[in-house]
Amino acid sequence: MTHVVTENCIKCKYTDCVDVCPVDCFKEGPNFLIIDPDECIDCAVCVPECPAEAIFAEEDVPADQQEFIEINAELSQSSEWKSITRRKAALPDADEWNGQTDKLQYLER
Ligand code: SF4
Ligand code: F3S
Repeated sequence: MTHVVTENCIKCKYTDCVDVCPVDCFKEGPNFLIIDPDECIDCAVCVPECPAEAIFAEEDVPADQQEFIEINAELSQSSEWKSITRRKAALPDADEWNGQTDKLQYLER
């Protein structure tokens, strides 16, 4: 099993999650982070750190977010998506985008 980053991370990317991951399994794209399912040890410490409440255990991913399980797995294989291990500034309009719906259309790969 793994943990999964879901839709509400898109256009927010607060990055609080990466500071606590003991195995550095987050990877970064332009406006989203993913968890590499081959590296995640399911410790769950990242879940409460996310201000956007975007991280779920795989078995707890909401029904309307199921496609993010595959999106995390797929993008973890992309050479464009690099490991991120230190927190940095959130995206400029993160607070405005936090909680908005239908953000998958804005995911930049
Ligand atoms: Fe990292 Fe643990 Fe979160 Fe997996 S559950 S991404 S190992 S902090
Ligand atoms: Fe995204 Fe939340 Fe991490 S918004 S970057 S999953 S802290």
